[in-house]
Amino acid sequence: MSYEGFKKAEIVGWDARAGTYNDFTGQVTTQAIPMLLAMAETAPGKRILDLCCGTGRAAGAAGALGAHAEGIDVSAAMVDAARAAFPTVVFDVGDAEFIPRENHSYDAAICSFGLMHVGSPDALLSEMARVLKPGGRVALSHWIGPPESPLFRIVFGTMMKLADMSVVPPSPPPFALSTEEAMRKALEKTGFQAISILQLPLAFRAPSGKFAEQFRQFAARAAIILDKQDDAVLKEIYSSWDAQLKEFLVDGEYRVPMPALAVSAVRGT
Ligand SMILES: C[S@@+](CC[C@H](N)C(=O)[O-])C[C@H]1O[C@@H](n2cnc3c(N)ncnc32)[C@H](O)[C@@H]1O
Repeated sequence: MSYEGFKKAEIVGWDARAGTYNDFTGQVTTQAIPMLLAMAETAPGKRILDLCCGTGRAAGAAGALGAHAEGIDVSAAMVDAARAAFPTVVFDVGDAEFIPRENHSYDAAICSFGLMHVGSPDALLSEMARVLKPGGRVALSHWIGPPESPLFRIVFGTMMKLADMSVVPPSPPPFALSTEEAMRKALEKTGFQAISILQLPLAFRAPSGKFAEQFRQFAARAAIILDKQDDAVLKEIYSSWDAQLKEFLVDGEYRVPMPALAVSAVRGT
């Protein structure tokens, strides 16, 4: 299945969020970058490709460490934001499922919270292997899914129960690689070796009364579903979220755990 409707909705969603990305999603995803840079063995002179780069913070940080960093994202608005923030790093618009780069070009490929947003995560992993030099390193982060993740158990669990999915473009399952076991299998199938997986204790934060508004800003994939629902369904979803999220309200702020996997592996020679 090609998921063309889903892929178009992703581009529209991230284009619309590029201007405020660092205030919402970027507040959380940026916390994983130091681990990914270490996993990629970032060092001066290394060629590093950041896939699904968003506003370019991983590539920008790799460049600041002396690497020859480049970034690719399918959203033109994200690439504009990345170029503005990191003018010495090369950023291009492109699809990570068909990376517009030669075979065996990079010492490391990073993908920070991108796998959940592509039509085929397997295609992205194969493309990462193709553009890496033999022995090159992959470093990626990915959300842990329900039931372990309180955030995704509540928000996606409720949407799957209450939303009208017949009006939403078909999409690949968001949490297919959200366990250590599934991630390891997918990497092994692609020929990666020396796989190492850690968990990062990340959390989504929003002021009391602003959870739904800020989560929609944060999560373009969830917004693809929410944008299509009528007001009555949205009201039901939001009130169910509020009821379930009460335990995570601390000092007027929701602090909802959304743990992530940080994964490294080596391309075989
Ligand atoms: C959650 S954001 C992650 C951005 C950044 N890597 C970070 O960690 O903050 C997901 C990004 O994937 C990009 N994306 C979605 N599908 C893509 C594809 N097929 N090829 C390249 N980028 C894609 C989106 O435009 C968006 O910028």
